[in-house]
Amino acid sequence: MTASELRKKYLEFFQSKGHAVISGKSLIPENDPTVLFNTAGMQPLVPYLLGAAHPLGTRLTDVQKCVRTGDIESVGDPSHLTFFEMLGNWSLGDYFKNEALSWSFEFLTSPRWLGISPDKLWVTVFAGEDGIPRDEESADLWKSLGIPAHRISYLGRKDNWWGPAGQTGPCGPDSEMFYDTGRPCPKGEACEGPSCGCGRWLEIWNDVFMQYNKTAEGQYELLSKPNVDTGMGVERTSTILQGKKSVYETELFTPILAAVQKATGVTYGNSDGDDTNIRIICDHIKTACFILGDDLGVTPSNVGQGYVLRRLIRRAVRCGRKLGVLEPFLAGPAAAVLDIYRGVYDEVASRSALIFEELTREEEKFLKTLEHGEHEFEKMLPNLERNPKKEIPGRLAFKLYDTYGFPIEITEELAAEHGMTVDRPGFDEAFVKHQELSKAGADKTFKGGLADHSEMTTKLHTATHLMHKALQMVLGEHARQKGSNITPERLRFDFSHGEKMTEEQLRRVEAIVNEQIQRALPVSMTTMPIQEAKGLGAMALFGEKYEDVVKVYRIGDFSLEVCGGPHVENTGSLGHFRILKEEASSAGVRRIRAVLEDR
Ligand code: ALA
Repeated sequence: MTASELRKKYLEFFQSKGHAVISGKSLIPENDPTVLFNTAGMQPLVPYLLGAAHPLGTRLTDVQKCVRTGDIESVGDPSHLTFFEMLGNWSLGDYFKNEALSWSFEFLTSPRWLGISPDKLWVTVFAGEDGIPRDEESADLWKSLGIPAHRISYLGRKDNWWGPAGQTGPCGPDSEMFYDTGRPCPKGEACEGPSCGCGRWLEIWNDVFMQYNKTAEGQYELLSKPNVDTGMGVERTSTILQGKKSVYETELFTPILAAVQKATGVTYGNSDGDDTNIRIICDHIKTACFILGDDLGVTPSNVGQGYVLRRLIRRAVRCGRKLGVLEPFLAGPAAAVLDIYRGVYDEVASRSALIFEELTREEEKFLKTLEHGEHEFEKMLPNLERNPKKEIPGRLAFKLYDTYGFPIEITEELAAEHGMTVDRPGFDEAFVKHQELSKAGADKTFKGGLADHSEMTTKLHTATHLMHKALQMVLGEHARQKGSNITPERLRFDFSHGEKMTEEQLRRVEAIVNEQIQRALPVSMTTMPIQEAKGLGAMALFGEKYEDVVKVYRIGDFSLEVCGGPHVENTGSLGHFRILKEEASSAGVRRIRAVLEDR
C-alpha cells in the first residue's frame, strides 16, 4: 500500500465514522508563539480542544505536516524523522475511549482497511501516577478487542502521557499501538516489550485521552469535556505495510536516497557509518525543503525557525563532508523531495526556485565558514602542538565556535587528524557561560509566549481585527492582511501597501481603533458557508484554504472577518491601542507592531 493510499484510506475510514475531513495546516503555526513548528496534528486544533466550537462539528480528521527536532539525535535509525506526516482523528467532547480504541483496532486489522495481523500488535496503557488513576478501562477494552494480557504494558507518565505540545494546553494519558517487527532484542527473552528501546517495537499510533489543561502555573485542570486526539505516522505505517525495514526504503524516501548516493558518490548498504550519514542527509534535506517551501516558510537565519533550518542544512553538509563531499550537493536531493510531494503538498514544489537558491546559498556560506575556521585552526596549530597534553583548550575551541561559527565537532575532527583532543568540558563551560548571558533575553521572549491563550493574546487578536478594518478605511481596500503573529506582549501585522505610512495615517488608524474600543462593541461569532461569508463582505485571507463552513466574527457594526478566534466578548475590555512601529516587511508589504495598554 502506497503512502497516498494510506492517507486516503485513513480519511475515508474516519469519514465513515462520522468525521469531517479538514485540511492540514501550515507547518509553521500562525498564532501560537509557544512553538516553532506544528509537532502534532492536534496543534492547530488547540482552541477547539480547549472548548471552542469547531464549525465542522465534534468529529474531525486530517493529515498534518509536522516537524519535531526533539528526537534529532535518533535520526539515522530506521524510524525517527524530523519531518513526518501525522494522520489524526479527533473527538471534541464527543466519543471517548471505547470508540477511539475500537476504531483504531478496526482500521489497523480489518482486511477492508490495513489488514495488519492482530498478532503483531502490542499496546501500552497508562499505569497511573501523580493521583491520576491507572487506565484499566483501556486495558479492558483492548482485551475485549482480542489483545491478550501479556501484550498490554502499563507504563507511567514518561511513556504514556501526551502533551501539552507547548508549555500549556490540553494533555492526558494515552494508549499507544506498537508493531512487532520481529527484530531480535539483544536481551532475548528478557526483552521489556514496547518500552525496551531495542528496536523491535515500532510505535505507529497514539490515542490520547485529553482530559486536562496544563495552565501557565503548571496546574492540571480538568477540561469541561474530555477529547480524543490521535496520531498515526504515515512514514512508519507505510514501512510496515510495505514490509520494509526502515522508512528510507519506502517511496517517501527511495528517490531521495538515490539522489544522495548520486550526489555523494557513496553507495548505500556498504557501511553502517556511511549509511547513517546518508539517512541523516535524506531526513534533513526533506525537512529543510518543507520549511523553506511552507506557505509561511522561512529562510535560514540565527533565530527561531530560521535557526532550526540553518542547523538542519549545516548538519546535512557535515554529513556530506564525512562522505567526502566538499562542494554544495543538496540541490539534487532537494529536487527528489519536490518530486515525491508534487500533488500532495504543492506549496513546496511551487517554491522550487527559492528552495534551490536558499539551499545552495546556505551551503556555500557554511563551506566558507568551515574554510575560514580551518585557516584559523592552522594558525593556532604551531602553538597547540607545543602543548604536552596534546589537548586544545576549551576557550580556544569556543573562540573558533563563537567568532568563526566553527562547529565543535569539526574542531574535534581536525584535532584528531593532528593527534590531539579537545578539552570538551572546558568548551562546554565556556558555552554555558555564554548562553547564560544571552539567555536572559531569549527567556523573556519565550516566557512571553507561554500563556498563548491568555487574556492578552485574545485581546490582541480582537485588536488586530479592528486595526485591519481601520487600515482599509485609512489606506484603501488594498490594505489586506498578509500575516499575523501575536504574543502576549504585542501584535504584529503584515499587510499589502506600497509605501511607508505617514505619521498622520498612523494616528488616524490608532484613533479609529480606540474609538471602537470606547464604543464597547459586542463581538459575536456565527458559522456559515464560505460563500455566504464572502457575500456578506467578510474579510478573509486571500489564498488561504478555508473549510466549506467557516467561523465569522462580527465586531458591532464595524468589522466582519473570517477567523478561527478566540476573541473577547466586548471591545470595551481592550484598553488603549498604540502603534509602536511601522516598517517595510517585504516588497509591497508593510508591518505594524502595536500594543494594548491600560488606560
Ligand atoms: N498528539 C499525539 C501525538 O502526537 C496524538 O502522539
